[in-house]
Amino acid sequence: MTRVFSGIKPTGHLTLGNYLGAVRRWAEVDQHRTDALFCVVDMHALTVDHDPARVRRLSRQAATLLLASGLDPERCTVFVQSQVDEHARLSYVLECVATDGEARRMIQYKEKAVRERDRGGSVRLSLLTYPVLMAADILAYGTDEVPVGDDQTQHVELARDLAVRFNQRYGQAFVVPRATHPEVGARVMNLQEPTSKMGKTDDVGPGIVYLLDEPDVVRKKIMRAVTDSGRDVVHDRVARPGLANLLEILAACEGGDPGELSGAYRSYGALKKDTAEAVVELLRPVQRRHKELCADPAYVDGVLRSGAEKARGMARPRVDAAYRAIGLSAG
Ligand code: TYM
Repeated sequence: MTRVFSGIKPTGHLTLGNYLGAVRRWAEVDQHRTDALFCVVDMHALTVDHDPARVRRLSRQAATLLLASGLDPERCTVFVQSQVDEHARLSYVLECVATDGEARRMIQYKEKAVRERDRGGSVRLSLLTYPVLMAADILAYGTDEVPVGDDQTQHVELARDLAVRFNQRYGQAFVVPRATHPEVGARVMNLQEPTSKMGKTDDVGPGIVYLLDEPDVVRKKIMRAVTDSGRDVVHDRVARPGLANLLEILAACEGGDPGELSGAYRSYGALKKDTAEAVVELLRPVQRRHKELCADPAYVDGVLRSGAEKARGMARPRVDAAYRAIGLSAG
């Protein structure tokens, strides 16, 4: 059976981008047709300036939201990364396979490093090695497919390269994974800056729809989305990025093709209104279930505990084998 692994980083509240680009598909498709693991990758949240209590709170919230989005512990494994030591163990081994040039070429590293320096901070070494830890997350489980948004493609490519290199140098230990993306919604843009990705840690709050935003907040954010100066409604990512983003969000919510949908609209106002309502309806059941789960913390604890136990059992033999292959003693 196809093995799927994907993760989400608790650096902020989950967004509509996370949902449309990744989480919805994990729940609707991946968990039903594959042997899937979904992970709150809390160790990745320490790569930039962080508050320990907030990371713990956001990890819990992310895990609860994954369950609220429909991940079913009977069908897939849901866990928190730091509860499974194999990720860190394998990451070090892969650091001995990756090169520093490879790590420095990562677009997200370059962008985030500039941002940290602009804020007057220093860049943590873990920000550079982050994609290697991500490769460890993926390779530890013999993953075939990694369902992610567009922004993670380069990181999954690195995981592929490291798997191939390790296997060639030290003997067959890893499956070579590939990234998969949703047809629509793989890159949801910030509503106020439609040429930048809608990211959970960005500063432009009004341009980000969070999964736990109240319906009226969602409506306000979408009605105030920056559009373009033209009048006709067409789908053109380059010339009309704001409009294209709204059409893509609507298409992702309702199914269909953004280009075809554009033909149904004569005004920006009508498009915004329909998009806002579609998003409100999309989030309604997730928010309802989230509230129920918050009232039952013992259930969430139990899911995460048994998820971590299961994940450990799956990762351990492969990581031990990689240790032995590279010259360490294990097990
Ligand atoms: P993260 O936490 O930034 O995002 C989680 C998932 O959401 C997708 N995503 C988006 N998709 C569409 N539009 C957007 N605006 C948008 N923003 C985020 C991301 O592509 C991702 O699929 N490095 C990863 C976490 C990670 C991981 C892994 C993923 C760590 N280890 C192993 C897969 C496998 C990250 O920062 O995702």
